[in-house]
Amino acid sequence: MNTAIYPGSFDPVTNGHLDVIKRSAKIFDKVIVAVAKNPTKTPMFTIEERTKLLSRVLKSMDNVEVDHFDGLLVDYAKAKDASVIIKGLRAISDFEYEFQMALMNRKLDSSIETLFMMTSYKYSFLSSSMMKEIGRLGGCIGELVPDEILEDVKAKLKDA
Ligand code: PNS
Repeated sequence: MNTAIYPGSFDPVTNGHLDVIKRSAKIFDKVIVAVAKNPTKTPMFTIEERTKLLSRVLKSMDNVEVDHFDGLLVDYAKAKDASVIIKGLRAISDFEYEFQMALMNRKLDSSIETLFMMTSYKYSFLSSSMMKEIGRLGGCIGELVPDEILEDVKAKLKDA
């Protein structure tokens, strides 16, 4: 089975992530959307909440699984028998950091390939952090996050 991992913080999942997941699911037999603990960030949603929100959004996609992980991504990929890591690229500004991570992951485990997928044009400006800032400041986030989680995001932003 041709399995790919799509890792990220997903704090929370946006329509940009969803676009990459849907397109990846057409290419691979199985896509594991893996929520990273990432101790360098202070997320708005806990890892359990982020995983639950993703599961709700992706429940109708038969070949997509949602999971979370701690530790090195390449170790997680190996444990899941996945040989490909998918990363979404929005703009040139993403490239330098993503390129560095891809090369480091290759150094850690050369059997795992990183595949970059260009985000659709209409989501090229979208990030979880920008969406949260817009929401906090009272802007409309309805077209930025999946419908299934919109109320959860609004409620969390109100509390934050
Ligand atoms: O959505 P993000 O925050 O850009 O995702 C970054 C993520 C989770 C993909 C990256 O931080 C990661 O792979 N973390 C796992 C730990 C790891 O393997 N670090 C070394 C990467 S070279």
